[in-house]
Amino acid sequence: MQYREFGNTGFKASEIGLGTWQFGGDWGEISDEEINAILKAALDSGVNFFDTADVYGAGRSETLVGNFLRNQSGNTFVATKLGRLEGYPDNYSLELLKKCTENSLRRLGRESIDLIQLHCIPVSWLKDGEIFDWLRALRSEGKIRYFGASVETMEQALICLEQDDITSLQIIFNIFRQKPLEILFRKAAEKKVALITRLPLASGLLTGKYTKDTVFSSSDHRSYNRNGQAFNAGETFCGLDFDYGLDLVNQIRPLVPASMSMSQFALRFILDYPEVSVVIPGASKSKQVISNVSAAGFEPLGRHVHLVLAQLYQNEIEKNIRVEV
Ligand SMILES: NC(=O)c1ccc[n+]([C@@H]2O[C@H](COP(=O)([O-])OP(=O)(O)OC[C@H]3O[C@@H](n4cnc5c(N)ncnc54)[C@H](OP(=O)(O)O)[C@@H]3O)[C@@H](O)[C@H]2O)c1
Repeated sequence: MQYREFGNTGFKASEIGLGTWQFGGDWGEISDEEINAILKAALDSGVNFFDTADVYGAGRSETLVGNFLRNQSGNTFVATKLGRLEGYPDNYSLELLKKCTENSLRRLGRESIDLIQLHCIPVSWLKDGEIFDWLRALRSEGKIRYFGASVETMEQALICLEQDDITSLQIIFNIFRQKPLEILFRKAAEKKVALITRLPLASGLLTGKYTKDTVFSSSDHRSYNRNGQAFNAGETFCGLDFDYGLDLVNQIRPLVPASMSMSQFALRFILDYPEVSVVIPGASKSKQVISNVSAAGFEPLGRHVHLVLAQLYQNEIEKNIRVEV
């Protein structure tokens, strides 16, 4: 595993972290045993950065991450989120943020939360800015160490960057979603804001393992939010139509070297950008974690591959994303 500076914090985050939305049940059922195996595989492989949220399984993901890490030695960094379990979309206050933070602290079993991220809250709250002062108040009280935001569009990301002391931005960035490269990467690097990149595998599409016949369970967002019926369509398959995504995967397949799986290729694509602090693939099985972590050990993909993928994005993919990016 290689480690990168996490913004201004002095913490060195593993290039590959672990996303834990899967632990909440929005990806179909998953047992506590499987979750513990996933966490163990991650920790044993050198992962030290874990992304969760209070809303994932209404606290289940935080609780299981907290219970697991409580018994481990070593320096780990847990990023959680608030703003979706309670308050969404227009009922935020300092009191509410404090209550949510205290609940997360209890579930995670920590004295202070490493990083709290606003969880895709409406842009009007980001523009208004007072909510960031409430986060500063929580930081002054010692309840959190750092704050950041998880956002859906580049407009939202740039608004957040105006907050001088924001530590991190969580964005969607992968082969199918290359817009952050245009302006955000440079600006975030200038301000030493850590970039956490989610959906690195486009909800699994970029593993290359699905076909037109793949069926997801009814409790899996890839079934019930496939076209944005429950929340922002961009969070499921990056906002691409599933069948169209499969066609794209087949166009990309010839670029993948024989020594790599398509998942490793997709993760390596992201790691080739030094502006990225940590990539947070989710996993439903421990063996996926082990494969994902090994992506960090491959050589960069090279200029030609990046050029071909940039052209594919610009000429073909961008216009087919069904949400604002
Ligand atoms: N708004 C937000 O802030 C927000 C939104 C979305 C995600 N996130 C965070 O970002 C994390 C990552 O995003 P994501 O989980 O949505 O999508 P993702 O990482 O792009 O895809 C995860 C899925 O890919 C498949 N997979 C992973 N590794 C694999 C491997 N080596 N081989 C085969 N299949 C593999 C698994 O699918 P199967 O289950 O089909 O096996 C897994 O559930 C989340 O867990 C969460 O922490 C945050």
